[in-house]
Amino acid sequence: MDYNLEIVVQDAKDALSTIDDLEELSRLRNNLLSKKSQLGTARSSLATLPLDQRREIGAKIELARKEIESALAERRQLIEVRTRKEKLAADEIDITEWLESSTPARGHQHIVQRTRDELEDVFVGMGFSVNEGPEVETDWYNFEALNIPPAHPARGMWDTFYLDLGEPETVLLRTHTSPTQIRVMESGELPIYAVMPGRCYRRDTPDSRHLPIFHQIEGLVVDIGISFANLAGTIEDFTTAYFGAGIHSRLRPSYFPFTEPSAEFEITCTICAGSGCRTCSHTGWIELGGCGMVHPAVFEAVGIDSKRWTGFAFGFGIDRCAQMRYQIPDMRVLMENDYRFMKQL
Ligand code: PHE
Repeated sequence: MDYNLEIVVQDAKDALSTIDDLEELSRLRNNLLSKKSQLGTARSSLATLPLDQRREIGAKIELARKEIESALAERRQLIEVRTRKEKLAADEIDITEWLESSTPARGHQHIVQRTRDELEDVFVGMGFSVNEGPEVETDWYNFEALNIPPAHPARGMWDTFYLDLGEPETVLLRTHTSPTQIRVMESGELPIYAVMPGRCYRRDTPDSRHLPIFHQIEGLVVDIGISFANLAGTIEDFTTAYFGAGIHSRLRPSYFPFTEPSAEFEITCTICAGSGCRTCSHTGWIELGGCGMVHPAVFEAVGIDSKRWTGFAFGFGIDRCAQMRYQIPDMRVLMENDYRFMKQL
């Protein structure tokens, strides 16, 4: 029997150094320490030796076994530490990670909403309150109370969407914000200095200056001694406050059933600053909305004494204002939600 135990130990250490997982390690452990291993056979051969040699070689074998055991333990620890490190690294969540491509874009208000807010701010600064009314209205609020009885030819000024509710043609999508005037007056508190913004609907084919769904802001003042001069002054003040000092307003005679006298109000063309261009048909002026003195028949419909109180009203398009202020050639982009347009304004 060859008892070169140093070589046995060295071979064991060499074999161990290539092992990387615990299963392989326990297999190798069996091979190195079982009865059939070199160490095992050396131990079983001890019985054939004389007593003195048996003790000496037995001690050497025991020493070799201890050395192999400790090499095994060392390797086991190394593998365990390494596996744990790898597992930790794989489980790690880097909460500071920042990837350019996955950064969410920051949204902002739609230009129409922003224009509405800015217009409200201008009027609030002038002492007006802000009121809202429903988008689904009855014929009474949208037409009759505004001095437009059924079959009145002026109904042709507003191509109306009706709802399939109640009696035919009695419930509709409001065609302007003027019905909110009626609601504010009905609420009974006088005097009134109010603006009423909101969405309106008309059966119009969309084009560069019209949308079937659009927004208006209505103004209403009812007090003692209110004159047409107050109306003209309010509109001029609003125009310069919102569009800037170089933009002015003018009134042209017009007709609305709920105001008398009535006017259309125009502002300096913002494209050419009044010198004349295609957009303003070379007049230097752009129409923004309608206005006039509240008609006595409207006061009567809401129970306000028109001998005592007078007032004016105006209404204009919010989308049209945004178009003028930001020089948007075609209004349809306001509805299309094309991100390339939306992110600019
Ligand atoms: N409601 C009218 C329209 O939409 C505008 C208007 C409002 C006119 C108030 C006069 C007074 O056409």
